[in-house]
Amino acid sequence: MTDVKDFQPFSVETLECPYPFYKAMQDQAPVFEASPGVFFVSSYEHINQALRDPETFMSGNGAAFLNFQGEDGLAPPTAPPPVILEILKNDVPQRDTLLSGDPPAHARFRRLVNRSLSPRRVAQFEPQIRRVVNDLIDAFIDDGECELIEQFSMMVPLSVVALALGVPQSDLAQYKDWCVRSVSILAGKITPEQAVDATTAAVELRNYLADKVEAARQKPEDNVIGDLIKAHILADEAGDETDEEFRPLDTPEIVSVAQQLLVAGQETVNYLISSLTLMLLQNPDQLAEVIDDPTLIPDMIEEGMRAESPIQALGRFATRDVEFGGVHIPAGSRVIMLYGAANRDESAFKCPADFDIHREDLRDHVAFGAGPHYCVGAALARLESKIAFEALLGRLKNLRLAEGKNDFTHNYNFIFRSLKALHIEFDKA
Ligand code: HEM
Repeated sequence: MTDVKDFQPFSVETLECPYPFYKAMQDQAPVFEASPGVFFVSSYEHINQALRDPETFMSGNGAAFLNFQGEDGLAPPTAPPPVILEILKNDVPQRDTLLSGDPPAHARFRRLVNRSLSPRRVAQFEPQIRRVVNDLIDAFIDDGECELIEQFSMMVPLSVVALALGVPQSDLAQYKDWCVRSVSILAGKITPEQAVDATTAAVELRNYLADKVEAARQKPEDNVIGDLIKAHILADEAGDETDEEFRPLDTPEIVSVAQQLLVAGQETVNYLISSLTLMLLQNPDQLAEVIDDPTLIPDMIEEGMRAESPIQALGRFATRDVEFGGVHIPAGSRVIMLYGAANRDESAFKCPADFDIHREDLRDHVAFGAGPHYCVGAALARLESKIAFEALLGRLKNLRLAEGKNDFTHNYNFIFRSLKALHIEFDKA
């Protein structure tokens, strides 16, 4: 039996398959102190409770991202080394807006982005998303095979989020490079060289976005950056000390939102599409059903997100001493929400390891989070994934795994779960 005390959150083996440890935690210690001041929350009930209580479990001060150090990866971070501080001298000033925001300022930014990415607004992108998806498929369909991640699932969300933001499609390869490099800092344990590379990529991306925001100020268009340029925010609630009641957002604030949309929207949808394709190929009866009846695609997407959650974990800080799940959590502790575990909690989902598109409760997952930080891109993620699968399953017949080419391993990252590659073969429709 797996013992929760053997849990090594940042080991390669754990990240490759964390599920036995999630189960062990749920059985033995649903709120588990892995080292002094570091707690992991794995149960569906407690995650739902904590995510809805930002006064006790805050996201600011870098809480969301794990940035641990030491032998086991659980020691608190030390001050950045001079080489990183040097790179950060060229950074756009960092602002807490969404993921790293807390009430009341968070709600102000959040309301603006909610409007920009509302289901109605997102629906207007449908024809463009269809074009993006079909152009990508056109590029490989005659080959009868492809590596789905490089050639499709990574490119769909990048292209779509660039459309939503209003940044040039011609720079997609550059966004991809920045996103892939900058998320490696969220991996868990990383080398000093990786930290330098990830920081360099993040600073380059933020400066690029700052230039785009400044240029867009001349003539704000009908996209997220344009919306944010035109918007005003309540000065008090944004934490300002000016006498002005409302003020426009400054460039670093818009850059903060744009960066999060680009990075959070990319890895997540990429993994959803690739892991869901794999789960369908491993469950041919359900694949056949969905091909016969594409109206099942939305349910299939929800079940894919539950079974293999693209965001496995994000952190919070405890703002006060609190008794939680029978455990004493001192103020200042790191509290890590294991969304991927909650979505496989037996007390919430029957036979949670099974992929089943007919589950009654498949929309109860917390893959998009819960409470005030619930994913602001959920409507966009659902729409682009639906269009992606309508096109993939409609155009690629006799879909199958390429023999001998797949090892089904995952990238080393504690937060984002993603397959390294998925080679498939098919016949042209
Ligand atoms: C399958 C796809 C996706 C999954 C599984 C996912 C998952 C999540 C989760 C779990 C959170 C909660 C964070 C927290 O509790 O602190 C979140 C928040 C967020 N997501 Fe997503 N996401 C997806 C797609 C997207 C897309 C397409 C975008 C943007 C275009 C996006 C942008 C964001 C942002 C900016 C936040 C922060 C919201 C806030 O703090 O108010 N996500 N997402």
